[in-house]
Amino acid sequence: MSGFLDEIEPLKQSALTQLQAAPDAAALEQTKGLWLGPNGRFTALMKQMGTLSKEEKPAAGKLINAAKVELESALNARREELELAAALPKEPTDFTLPGRRRALGKLHPLTQVTDDIVRAFRKIGFAVADGPEIEDEYHCFDALNTPADHPARDSQDTFYIGTNTASGLAALPESDVQRDPARGKLLRTHTSSVQIRVMKSQPPPVRIIVPGRVYRRDNADATHNPTFHQIEGLYVDKNVTVGDLKGTVEFVFRELMGNDVKIRFRPHYFSYTEPSYEIDFTNALVKRMGKDWLEIAGCGMVHPQVFETVGYDPEVWTGWAFGFGIERIAMLRYGINDIRLLYENDVRFLKQF
Ligand code: DAH
Repeated sequence: MSGFLDEIEPLKQSALTQLQAAPDAAALEQTKGLWLGPNGRFTALMKQMGTLSKEEKPAAGKLINAAKVELESALNARREELELAAALPKEPTDFTLPGRRRALGKLHPLTQVTDDIVRAFRKIGFAVADGPEIEDEYHCFDALNTPADHPARDSQDTFYIGTNTASGLAALPESDVQRDPARGKLLRTHTSSVQIRVMKSQPPPVRIIVPGRVYRRDNADATHNPTFHQIEGLYVDKNVTVGDLKGTVEFVFRELMGNDVKIRFRPHYFSYTEPSYEIDFTNALVKRMGKDWLEIAGCGMVHPQVFETVGYDPEVWTGWAFGFGIERIAMLRYGINDIRLLYENDVRFLKQF
């Protein structure tokens, strides 16, 4: 009996040593089999219990069970150690390596140009106003003194909405639109409609700009797209002159495009301004394109009829208004030769700006 009991401790010690030395999970399982498996050396020892006398058994059983518990917990501890080691990176981490950069997005060139124009106008006291893209004929045309037979009102030029569209030829008083809001709805053809909405909502003076999307029935080509963007400006106060208009436009273009910019006003016709002008623009880039001037905006002094319509006294108030195409300015600024590039959202194009 004493021989049997004396065997337990040394066997347990060598089993512990081997388990703790197992270099990986496979070796550990193999060592486990060697000692604790059906034919394992420790299992064999337990089987010898059968040969012991009734008096000897309890003490021997106690010793063997304690040893088995110890071996199993050593086995589990080594298994966890090995799992943890396997989960760690093989190479030590080098904290001095440069970081991996994630590609950052940026603002679309049209948004950048719009933001810059807005910033330039804010410097001289203009606020940003907004209006709906789904407009009605009243705000888009009638209230802007646009005659019933004006080509802009033609369904060839304008996206009318719904079945209940006006002919596109009949002038529509605001009362009609209010009685039947579906009547004469359209996608606004210009941001000028917001002039009416702002003047109707507040007394003069007014100093606003309106960046926004507009829609026209145009086939897309290098210089046209059925949706594009404009910035409208409106300034109403006492004693406003064309000189104020010209000075303001010149200031903003110099802010945007640099000091070599030149501006020219050419007489034109818009029904909501009198007199009206088109603004031509030139700088080194325009010259390089082989041109003397590029047409860039429409403008003029607010027509007295428009003031009457919104309830401003035309004998007291004067003002100017303009509308620029934002794409045109972006194309000039960045030397982009096809407007469609601005809508394709190809990252190879966009990341250049
Ligand atoms: N609405 C005109 C257009 O889309 C541009 C324009 C011309 C706006 C004269 C104005 C203006 O405010 O006074 O072509």
